[in-house]
Amino acid sequence: MLSLSGKVALVTGGSRGIGFSTAKIFSENGAQVVITSKDSSRLNNSASSLVNTVGIAADIRNEEDVKRVVDETIKKFGRLDILVNNAGIFPKIKQLHEIDESEWQEVLDVNLTGQFRFTKAAIPYLQKTSGSIINISSDAGLKAYQGFNADAYSASKAALIILTKCWALEYAKDKVRVNCICPGVVDTDMTKPFLKTDDDRRFMDNEHPIGRIGRPEEIAKAVLYFASDDSLWTTGAVLAVDGGESIK
Ligand SMILES: NC(=O)c1ccc[n+]([C@@H]2O[C@H](COP(=O)([O-])OP(=O)(O)OC[C@H]3O[C@@H](n4cnc5c(N)ncnc54)[C@H](OP(=O)(O)O)[C@@H]3O)[C@@H](O)[C@H]2O)c1
Repeated sequence: MLSLSGKVALVTGGSRGIGFSTAKIFSENGAQVVITSKDSSRLNNSASSLVNTVGIAADIRNEEDVKRVVDETIKKFGRLDILVNNAGIFPKIKQLHEIDESEWQEVLDVNLTGQFRFTKAAIPYLQKTSGSIINISSDAGLKAYQGFNADAYSASKAALIILTKCWALEYAKDKVRVNCICPGVVDTDMTKPFLKTDDDRRFMDNEHPIGRIGRPEEIAKAVLYFASDDSLWTTGAVLAVDGGESIK
């Protein structure tokens, strides 16, 4: 069994969806977990439903907030072993010529610069523990999809794939590992607008060669592998967990 016993993990966007499932599997496997997200009441409800988990509310767009989350984590637990860069937003579907620059910037600020902010704040502590960073990208960062029309999102997710490789090379000397997961469509609040009717769901299920969309806990299991010492010789890896969507 993969164990995180004695490890301290920080999961961004941990209030719901993939982040919450990740915090759950981490805590069930022995880690002390800090979850962070913007909406404090949702975050606190989520944290209190899990064992060994605390919530620290913060807006990933604010550098001071991000530093405070890392500082409070160290103050409380004295170390940091795992960072999961998971928080993200999905924009309104529009073609490139229809989006305002502010909409573009908003997506990059959360999905890309936010991951930079957390990694920058956490890295000194991860260097001390030879820790593990797991970036949650997307199939949308691997290839273009007809009619997807969420360019800022795709750009942010593709950037996270190359940053995974850059950071893996940069910090390998400290035995810090950096890996990346690219989910296909997963049943969370983020994808609710695309799963309103039975027809929507059938369409999305059929987009995946395995014949269905994913569940958040199926992504969390892959995150657990990268977080655990069972993957000590794996860094810079990009793993599609997507029912085969990206191989079509
Ligand atoms: N679901 C999918 O099909 C899918 C597929 C591929 C990749 N992904 C990626 O997987 C990750 C998780 O997605 P999900 O589906 O679990 O999404 P979700 O259910 O919508 O949850 C998003 C999380 O990000 C947090 N967040 C958003 N903006 C934030 C901000 N400004 N500051 C701090 N936290 C913020 C949210 O916090 P609040 O609760 O406070 O809003 C929430 O915890 C995302 O990076 C997403 O792009 C998802």
